[in-house]
Amino acid sequence: MEFKKNILCIGAGYVGGPTMAVIAMKCPEYKVNVVDINNEKIKQWNSDQLPIFEPGLDEVVQKCRGKNLFFSTEIEKGIREADIIFVSVNTPTKTFGEGTGMASDLQYWEKTAHQIVEHANGDKTIVEKSTLPVRTAEAMERILKANDKGFHFEVVSNPEFLAEGTAIRDLLDSDRVLVGSHKTERGMAAAREIVNIYKHWLSDDKIITTNLWSSELSKLVANAFLAQRISSINSISALCEKTDADITEISYAVGADSRIGNKFLNPSVGFGGSCFKKDILNLVYIARSYHLNEVADYWHQVIKMNDFQKDRFVRQIVKEMFSTVANKKIVLFGFAFKANTGDTRESPAIDITKKLLEERAQVIITDPQALDNARMDLKNYDGLVTYEPNPYRAAESADAIAIITEWNEYKLLDYQKIYAAMKKPAFIFDGRNILNHEELYKIGFNVYPLGKTQLSHFK
Ligand SMILES: NC(=O)c1ccc[n+]([C@@H]2O[C@H](COP(=O)([O-])OP(=O)(O)OC[C@H]3O[C@@H](n4cnc5c(N)ncnc54)[C@H](O)[C@@H]3O)[C@@H](O)[C@H]2O)c1
Repeated sequence: MEFKKNILCIGAGYVGGPTMAVIAMKCPEYKVNVVDINNEKIKQWNSDQLPIFEPGLDEVVQKCRGKNLFFSTEIEKGIREADIIFVSVNTPTKTFGEGTGMASDLQYWEKTAHQIVEHANGDKTIVEKSTLPVRTAEAMERILKANDKGFHFEVVSNPEFLAEGTAIRDLLDSDRVLVGSHKTERGMAAAREIVNIYKHWLSDDKIITTNLWSSELSKLVANAFLAQRISSINSISALCEKTDADITEISYAVGADSRIGNKFLNPSVGFGGSCFKKDILNLVYIARSYHLNEVADYWHQVIKMNDFQKDRFVRQIVKEMFSTVANKKIVLFGFAFKANTGDTRESPAIDITKKLLEERAQVIITDPQALDNARMDLKNYDGLVTYEPNPYRAAESADAIAIITEWNEYKLLDYQKIYAAMKKPAFIFDGRNILNHEELYKIGFNVYPLGKTQLSHFK
């Protein structure tokens, strides 16, 4: 079949895979190629066992794979064939040299730009899908323009706002899509090309066009604002525990103000995921590089508050369990950084496990999707941690349960049965406030929610 356009996506990860699958489904007249250097990952994309768990993803991939959606490692061929190249490679925090622990490591991005220059055989539109520091396109253009073939590469920014766990829903029904370009004739034409893709399923009012730098910076700012809300409510949860105020009542009362809104106001053990921390650190680094130290300090506090919340959670476990957890069995219900994903990157569960191990606790981890990733995250702690997919079995003869991930299945468990199989006194630390605390207390548990009065039988 003759396709109207060839789209290539470099990077078949949590963003590249689902985004391109949805584009392929909605634009059957376009051919969508997704390439990656990771052969194993591509094999999985071509199998029944996709490399990531994401509700609704299997169905979308099955509909289009082999028709207009293809996964391969043939990057050079992909570049030659493509009219539009989305670059969705990882942009982690730098772990070496200038900007260590703060700035974005752009080596994967830069490598891609060089590959495009080397293998292109005509003009192309290059789309920044990865989250990048503001003004990255400038550096990319320098690399792309340094070609002696006479081809033109127009760089457009189209940051991705999907959230893991709801990626397909977010892509199909986006709050907005952002396309940033130079305001030149060529820049505007390239932006229109990208807008036309999304117009296949989104109305015009959902598609925002801006200049390149606003688009790049908007993505960092959106993540910083989201993370800031989590740190804000978490900071108040600590205050509630000292004052007998109730965080659920406060979230409701505060969120009822339409200027504030009621989303992202649940307290938790802290945010995780591959993006929030890295994007805020990047924002802090950029602000500092422009000598805007007050701006940098302001946003850095969001991360410090997140660390405080994780630390506070473990300190509370130790304190309430008679100031020692040595040799006690503590079961973590959930290891993924949020529900409905197997992703554990920057999950608070990692720090919490390490801190509990430092206290010499025996840690048992259960999770419906994330145990393989958990094993990799904790490979240096082999023998000290037990992995058990069945939550009932995980809780057998345990001293305490700590709810780390808000999986729906944890709300539906038979806690009477769990209590009967645990050591006494039995403790539950609800790091997501998802359980019925009164009921657990009646069963016999000592219950420690976040930002609420604890329900303990020791009085
Ligand atoms: N994960 C999210 O929820 C999310 C949401 C919005 C934006 N983002 C941003 O999107 C970008 C990608 O994130 P992700 O979570 O998909 O990362 P990921 O690690 O899951 O995927 C990136 C993929 O790029 C591949 N890759 C790296 N260099 C390559 C190269 N030179 N050629 C071909 N493939 C290469 C890697 O092998 C990997 O499979 C990041 O900038 C991230 O900040 C992520």
